[in-house]
Amino acid sequence: MGKKKRKGFLKYSFILLLVAFVVMQFFTINKTNPKVEKAKDFIAIATPPADIEKMIRSACYDCHSNETVYPWYSNLAPVSWWLEDHIEEGRSHLNFSEWGNYEEDKANHKLHECEEEVEEKEMPLSSYTWSHGDAKFTDAQRDKLAKWFKSKMTGEE
Ligand code: HEC
Repeated sequence: MGKKKRKGFLKYSFILLLVAFVVMQFFTINKTNPKVEKAKDFIAIATPPADIEKMIRSACYDCHSNETVYPWYSNLAPVSWWLEDHIEEGRSHLNFSEWGNYEEDKANHKLHECEEEVEEKEMPLSSYTWSHGDAKFTDAQRDKLAKWFKSKMTGEE
């Protein structure tokens, strides 16, 4: 390619990318939260102390409840699609807004998983803590939260 031609090619590619980006913006995500029934909410049922409640709300509820707070960049494709994916998958594994529907066995199992995921630093997802400072825990906080989850299990393990 000659110099002039290559410049034209770059310009053309850039415009094409720009058009693709603009077109993507038409594919918005659905940000309507499903209805929340207070009586079924995990925090309402398990009544954690204030500091634990704050941790769970700020580090888990955006993906594991029907009380998701969407950040501004959730309006920006393709980031929005990626967020939507996390929220859908998060809710499908564990939805604190539907806690009241879980049988005792299931609830115990989820509490155990919560303890493990928190202890092993799997949750909250690291991609989430980058952008949510209040979801970053110290080791002591992590330990406290994990133990609290465990303490809510009923019967034997
Ligand atoms: C950014 C979204 C996001 C946040 C924030 C988040 N999770 Fe998750 N969580 C997911 C996704 C997605 C999955 C399923 C895929 C996986 O296991 O990585 C999951 C899976 C889990 C599971 C496994 C459930 C099962 O039975 O398979 C547990 C337990 C869990 N999360 C607990 C938590 C807790 C507790 C917090 C807060 C301390 C939290 N998560 C914060 C997205 C999130």
